[in-house]
Amino acid sequence: MVLSKTFSQSDVSVHSTFASRYVRDSLPRFKVPENSIPKEAAYQIINDELMLDGNPRLNLASFVTTWMEPECDKLIMDAINKNYVDMDEYPVTTELQNRCVNMIGHLFNAPLGDGEAAVGVGTVGSSEAIMLAGLAFKRKWQNKMKSLGKPCDKPNIVTGANVQVCWEKFARYFEVELKEVKLRDGYYVMDPEKAVEMVDENTICVAAILGSTLNGEFEDVKQLNDLLMKKNQETGWDTPIHVDAASGGFIAPFLYPELEWDFRLPLVKSINVSGHKYGLVYAGIGWVIWRNKEDLPEELIFHINYLGADQPTFTLNFSKGSSQVIAQYYQLIRLGYEVIK
Ligand SMILES: Cc1ncc(COP(=O)(O)O)c(C=O)c1O
Repeated sequence: MVLSKTFSQSDVSVHSTFASRYVRDSLPRFKVPENSIPKEAAYQIINDELMLDGNPRLNLASFVTTWMEPECDKLIMDAINKNYVDMDEYPVTTELQNRCVNMIGHLFNAPLGDGEAAVGVGTVGSSEAIMLAGLAFKRKWQNKMKSLGKPCDKPNIVTGANVQVCWEKFARYFEVELKEVKLRDGYYVMDPEKAVEMVDENTICVAAILGSTLNGEFEDVKQLNDLLMKKNQETGWDTPIHVDAASGGFIAPFLYPELEWDFRLPLVKSINVSGHKYGLVYAGIGWVIWRNKEDLPEELIFHINYLGADQPTFTLNFSKGSSQVIAQYYQLIRLGYEVIK
């Protein structure tokens, strides 16, 4: 929680039954203790308290990975002290992230020429990925409206009412109106026809979900693309599509390779996927891939050189761990692409 709750007097200390051989006094719960304690005591107290958490391996609530192979656990622990953003110090980790971006770009059929690099970035999860994709759409749309001499202060996004909360967050944090297509009895995903009807000149993108959070159902991105192409032709607009493939992005390419939902569809300009869901990595990794570099406005990319060389970044945070990037690379090369028939 960002905001903590108030507490009663009886809650003020942490009891340490099994650490009592190291410490006599209980610890204050919400204030930094006056004195240090032995490391064994700190471990015992925290370990005992954490026993009251559920067992992650039994947690099916959020389809986030809770088990990885011991070899990968070792790679994770070996990299636990590497700050991802220090790219000059850890160039190999940066290289592994770039390989992942390219592998995922190819998996999603990005139209890449020979030797052309995919455009994308590793994020903390799909939520950060969606914020970045949304910002790119907003900026592109604003630039276009300005160049046409039209107002650009009322952007909107069209989605189904089944979107995950991160879209609502994006809309509120970055001041974009969320126009939600209502669901109806027996139809629990976004209806492409209704979505396209709701598109207007201020729509920065239509977001389709590949794997609705509520029931796992894939939205019909192909139909959405076809209807939107038609509307774009009629109106002269160029409203694009984002695919929120948080869970489906690592399922569809393997189980349904013929299904057209990705960059094979011309209006799909960006796609996010959660590495920590069916990318089979522990919590803390997502990816956003753009169709090509024109879809990511250059002015959103920051160039930092704190550590020597120029490093382009487009993320919401600065420092973060490296382990999840390495673990994603492990899963991609370990499992390879074998379509289940
Ligand atoms: C469709 C969809 N989008 C976005 C998210 C947010 O993903 P993350 O937890 O990777 O930030 C989820 C999470 O369940 C999701 O199901």
